[in-house]
Amino acid sequence: MRQANLQRQVPGGRGLSRRSFLKVGGSALAGAALLGAAGCGGGSQGGSGVTEFTFSFGPDNSGSLEEIVRRFNEEFEGRYRAKYRVMAADTGQYFNQVKTEFQAGGGEIDLIGGDVVWPAQFAANGWIEDLSDRFTEKERRAFLPAPVESCTYEDGVYGVPWFTDAGMLYYRRDLLEESGFSEPPETWEELEEQATRVTRESDAEDGFVFQAAEYEGGTVNGLEYIWTAGGDVVDRDDPERVVVDDPRAVEGLSIERGMVESGVAPRAVSTYAEQECQAAFLNGRAVFCRNWPYMYALASEEGQSNIEPGQIGVAPLPVAGGGRQSFSGLGGWNFYLNDASSEEEKDAAYEFVRFAIAPEQQKFRALNGSFLPTLEALYDDEEIVEGVPVIALGESAIKNARPRPLSPYYSDMSLVMAEQFNACVKGEKSPEEAANTLDRELQEIVDQA
Ligand code: GLC
Repeated sequence: MRQANLQRQVPGGRGLSRRSFLKVGGSALAGAALLGAAGCGGGSQGGSGVTEFTFSFGPDNSGSLEEIVRRFNEEFEGRYRAKYRVMAADTGQYFNQVKTEFQAGGGEIDLIGGDVVWPAQFAANGWIEDLSDRFTEKERRAFLPAPVESCTYEDGVYGVPWFTDAGMLYYRRDLLEESGFSEPPETWEELEEQATRVTRESDAEDGFVFQAAEYEGGTVNGLEYIWTAGGDVVDRDDPERVVVDDPRAVEGLSIERGMVESGVAPRAVSTYAEQECQAAFLNGRAVFCRNWPYMYALASEEGQSNIEPGQIGVAPLPVAGGGRQSFSGLGGWNFYLNDASSEEEKDAAYEFVRFAIAPEQQKFRALNGSFLPTLEALYDDEEIVEGVPVIALGESAIKNARPRPLSPYYSDMSLVMAEQFNACVKGEKSPEEAANTLDRELQEIVDQA
């Protein structure tokens, strides 16, 4: 049974200050009224003594999550039962589904396997529980710092890091070698050169595929082009300052647009999310692909790939030119507890969190799904390091990974970024126009906060 959470809306309740807009509530949230009626959740105990709870997450191609749920339900049979509700694969759509349930008074989901960019908005509205007491400071020390940081909002810790993610460059090691390239590219220009030659000399049709559709993944990819060109969208020290109307950001967007203009990337990348990129790379059509670590494991899954893991190399994302630093977008997924769930459901769900973050289960998902662990010690596990090369690279990629802005308005900010980046890739706007429009629109969001 859920209780509607009436006094938890932003702005207000938490005395949020104007100063740190990226940490406060405002216009977009003010419109998000919580309805008074309490939603009635399905029976937790139902007389059987078993506490059932609903756990939400997107579809899992590796099958490793279903196995974790099965193991949990077996181990806790008679006490707890997890029901896995499969949500949209697109993180933005999933976010909207959960947000709508929260706004209607809590909804059915007790435990959310949710994106690293969600906690600020959920926490600012009081929709998810502050887990600082359950997930103690001592426990947190065993985790990589960046994923823990992604769970932190104001003084609370609102999530428990499950697996982490960083953008990587996948390449066809075999095809590069056949064309005489012994190393992957370090700059975007080298990538274009290698891609052009390899597509000419092999059966591969596409030089490079990446996520440029108008959605969250398009935002991350656009940011990576901007960051690897030395630019940014908001100032890291003063997040109220929007800095995207700047030559370095424009250079990054020009490189992204240039991939399509030069024919290195197919025009269709403007509609590509992760799955389309994965299909193009794993069926052997593309030479290079920007994707997250999960794709590596699918190369060994029957029916998912025409190429073998041995044909695949992974490298950090290229940079715009000499001396600039490689950055990846920090991704990843954490566990969040619905604040409106009953104490029994929360306790049961948190037992699942403990189970899923334990070394044994994280290792299982690393070996079977190439999901990057959040427990630091697992990066020294020989079986993982030797068996899943993408994870060894992942450790350094995580160190060079940049978070997206931490803000209760992030979802609004992302919508405008995704729109402008996509318009630029499609050639509807020049990189200068896109940067300029984005600067104005982000500033409006900041100012309204
Ligand atoms: C991955 C990342 C997530 C990101 C999403 C974008 O799932 O882990 O953080 O938002 O891709 O598509």
